[in-house]
Amino acid sequence: MHINKKIFFTVAFVLAVAIFVGYKWNSKVQNQKRWYTKQMVTNGKPLYENNCASCHGLNGEGTAKFWNKKMANGRYPPPPLNSEAHAYHHPLKALRFTIQNGGKYIGGVMPAFNQKLSYKETDEVIAYFQEFWGDKFYEEWLKRGGLKK
Ligand code: HEC
Repeated sequence: MHINKKIFFTVAFVLAVAIFVGYKWNSKVQNQKRWYTKQMVTNGKPLYENNCASCHGLNGEGTAKFWNKKMANGRYPPPPLNSEAHAYHHPLKALRFTIQNGGKYIGGVMPAFNQKLSYKETDEVIAYFQEFWGDKFYEEWLKRGGLKK
């Protein structure tokens, strides 16, 4: 009986530690700090859906089967903005620039949004599609200098 109690407490202790560590690890992975707020994501949703989804897909999945193959007209189709394409290779300032000025600087066809979206709204739209990236890709983006000035 005495020994059983000891075993019981040892096992309970080990379990408690394991649960605590597991919880800590899990919350670290899931609540990873992002540069934007939840409010920005909420504001970005209608902006994204009204201005971007027709070309980039409602969930950033893109609208073309092969986003990296030129179309018959020699242009590239709109790429997905989730983590399937290159969006997470580009730092924040490049994403802002593309959205504000469109694709003409890279020989592309995306329309410029500088008459439609303020800087604040542009950031909200970016926050919204960055929610499509899992933490793995968000972290990769940070590593590639996503927030470098
Ligand atoms: C008329 C279609 C169209 C609309 C609308 C559109 N885009 Fe694009 N977008 C494109 C195309 C096409 C490209 C590829 C580059 C090019 O041709 O300009 C692109 C490229 C991009 C890129 C660069 C992605 C990368 O992986 O390099 C970003 C970021 C982007 N768009 C965001 C947006 C956002 C945000 C909106 C809404 C505010 C939007 N786009 C609206 C067609 C569109």
